[in-house]
Amino acid sequence: RRAERSLHEQALESAQQFYLKSLRASPDAIAYLKKRGLTGQIAQRFGLGWSGEERQGLMRVFADYQAASLVETGLVIESEDGRRYDRFRERIMFPIRNGRGVLIGFGGRLIRPGEPKYLNSPETPLFSKGHELYGLWEARQGIRKEGQVIVVEGYMDVVGLAQHGLENAVATLGTATTEHHVQKLMRASERIVFSFDGDRAGRKAAWRALQACLPLLRDDVSIRFLFLPAEHDPDSYIRDLGLEAFRACLGEAVALSRFLLDELSSRHDLREAEGRSACVHEARPLFAMMPEGVLKMQLQRDLAERVKFTPEELAAVMGVSTTVVS
Ligand code: CTP
Ligand code: MN
Ligand code: MN
Ligand code: MN
Ligand code: MN
Repeated sequence: RRAERSLHEQALESAQQFYLKSLRASPDAIAYLKKRGLTGQIAQRFGLGWSGEERQGLMRVFADYQAASLVETGLVIESEDGRRYDRFRERIMFPIRNGRGVLIGFGGRLIRPGEPKYLNSPETPLFSKGHELYGLWEARQGIRKEGQVIVVEGYMDVVGLAQHGLENAVATLGTATTEHHVQKLMRASERIVFSFDGDRAGRKAAWRALQACLPLLRDDVSIRFLFLPAEHDPDSYIRDLGLEAFRACLGEAVALSRFLLDELSSRHDLREAEGRSACVHEARPLFAMMPEGVLKMQLQRDLAERVKFTPEELAAVMGVSTTVVS
């Protein structure tokens, strides 16, 4: 196992060296990064690379292109007829490191229109998207300095924020936020701000993130949600409006408690008994997920107010077994 692991790490590191070298030799890829507002310094900080355009570009680095580790790490794909080719072609490469700084995979973005826009390394024992956060290694000092961690959707959001001086952002890897992610985030900082895209998908992702947070809520951890204008993501926002404007948004991020209650309220007409009942019905499983604590008690009190219950009445209803209420 151990030997296999280091073989995989070596393969990924060799590929990374190749991607770095390819970037230096590609005016097109460099022009793309410049167009996105990135300097060479930031590209270097994140180890951004370029995959090259050849079908088997990695043959140039690996003496044995047939080695099992190349397919096992997902650097190389083997088609049904046994022919091999590079997974990443014509892509800006984002190396992904785990919490200890070990290279575990890549994300790659096409620099020209095409599908899929982003491609990630496949799931392996070394690389699990539900566990890892892009940029956590690079952000470790920034998180301490800022006293908070910002969670964004995309690689470019992490890099774009850093370009403007915010070095405390990390991204989920094209997956929904999981409890594993939240655990890692809480270990990194006791102040977490989710800042997803302003579109509907981003809002949905925020709601999913909230649900991943509920079982882990702690009275000493602050979790907030920043909602950007619909047409923006953190990268485009900070590029168009600047660092101070983004900081102002950060300052106005809504607390998890408010997001939860506002979202629950907005889904029902609380002027009617039916709406208030449906709201409680929807709240029950969410509250059931939360560990006991002051925050939960506070939330229950606020919800009670909105649905015209006394806290005691609400507590009684929340405690009833699902079969009775639903
Ligand atoms: N993603 C993915 N596969 C896709 C599209 C997106 O894995 N086909 C993931 C990537 O991790 C990406 C994130 O979802 O960074 C956010 O997607 P999106 O908002 O569409 O892209 P941006 O990060 O805004 O990328 P860009 O600004 O380069 O267009
Ligand atoms: Mn999006
Ligand atoms: Mn973007
Ligand atoms: Mn985006
Ligand atoms: Mn700028």
